[in-house]
Amino acid sequence: MKSIQIAIDGPSGAGKSTMAKLVSQKLGIMYLDTGAMYRALALKAIRQNIDTNDSEKVSELLSDFNISIKYENGSQKVILNGEDVSDKIRTDEVSMGASNVSAIPAVRKRLVELQQKMASNTSVVMDGRDIGTHVLPKADVKIFLTASVAQRALRRYNEQKDKGILKKSLEEIEKEIEIRDYNDSHRAASPLKQADDAVLLDTSNYTIEESVEKILEIIRSKGLPNAL
Ligand code: DC
Repeated sequence: MKSIQIAIDGPSGAGKSTMAKLVSQKLGIMYLDTGAMYRALALKAIRQNIDTNDSEKVSELLSDFNISIKYENGSQKVILNGEDVSDKIRTDEVSMGASNVSAIPAVRKRLVELQQKMASNTSVVMDGRDIGTHVLPKADVKIFLTASVAQRALRRYNEQKDKGILKKSLEEIEKEIEIRDYNDSHRAASPLKQADDAVLLDTSNYTIEESVEKILEIIRSKGLPNAL
C-alpha cells in the first residue's frame, strides 16, 4: 500500500503532539515529534553552558549529536547519544533554548534532512512548525493546528498543575507563549507559517477527542486508502 504522510504544524501549546500521537495510533502509523529533536540539541547546549543563541558553538555540537526516537509501550522515548532524555527536554529552560537553536540555519538543515530520512518509505504523522512548508512539502494531508493564546496558556497551566510542577502564574505562562510565538514566526530560517495547501483547524473550543475527530475527518476527506 502507498505510504501516507500527514503534516501537522502550528504554534506552541496548540496540542499538536497530543493530537498527532492519537491520530497516528488510530491510523496505526508512525508518529514523529520533530520539536523533540530541537529540544534535545538545546539540552546538549545548556549542559555544556553554551548560549543557545550562539550559532557557531551550537552548530559545532552537531558533529556529536546522535538522536533517535523510540516507542516503548506506546510512549515516546527520545534518545540523545544513548541517553534517555525524554523528561529532561520538557523544562521551560529547554523550551526557550529549543526556540533559539531552531532559528540557526545549520541546525535546521541537519534536522530537516534527518526528519526526511526518517519519513522516507513509511507512513507517518509528523508534527512541528515547518513540516508542510519544508520537511514534507508533498505531504498527503497538511493541517495547521492553532488555538487562542489564552486557551493554550490555560492548557499548559492545568497540565503543569496536574503534574505538580507548576511554578508560574497563568499570566507568566501566557507571556512566555507570546514570546515563543513571536520568535518562531519571525525568525529568518523557515518561520512558522501555514502552508498554502494546509487546512486550518482552531481547537480553542474543542476537547482533545473532538479535535482528533476533526483531524480524522480532514484525512478521510482526502480519500486516503488506509485512513479509516
Ligand atoms: O513543538 P515543540 O514546542 O516541542 O518545539 C520546540 C521548539 O522547536 C519550538 O520553539 C519551535 C522549534 N521547532 C521548529 O522550529 N521546527 C520544528 N519542526 C519543530 C519545532
